[in-house]
Amino acid sequence: MYSDKVMDHFQNPRNVGKMEDPDVVGEVGNPTCGDIIRVYLKIKDDIIEDITFSTFGCGAAVATSSMVTELVKGKTLDEALEVSNEQIAEELDGLPPAKMHCSNLAADAIKNAIKNFKEGKTGLEENDNAEAETAHDHH
Ligand code: FES
Repeated sequence: MYSDKVMDHFQNPRNVGKMEDPDVVGEVGNPTCGDIIRVYLKIKDDIIEDITFSTFGCGAAVATSSMVTELVKGKTLDEALEVSNEQIAEELDGLPPAKMHCSNLAADAIKNAIKNFKEGKTGLEENDNAEAETAHDHH
């Protein structure tokens, strides 16, 4: 039911883990499934130099987060804002329809981080105490 690419990104997620000194952090949660994704960004001259993520999320959320971090790395903030969840799913050779909302999380977390950055916030203010870890054995 999942493409090889989804399985690959799920089993070997790229850019996973908390970043020590990010310039900005973005976080979104899905109220329906309760999953959360947080992204950490290093930004220089409006370019995303580095990005990592952590998630309490399902396998599809892990795979889409992994893919989206690869997609936006090296892009300008405005280019990163244009990455849509359809595009992420396409890059992964498709997602089951019931899992499309999981790819929204990844794209929205990045949008949230960029919004924080443009507003001059770090995104850490409200997230200081919450530590999102990557889920390993979540289906
Ligand atoms: S992100 Fe919640 S089920 Fe996938």
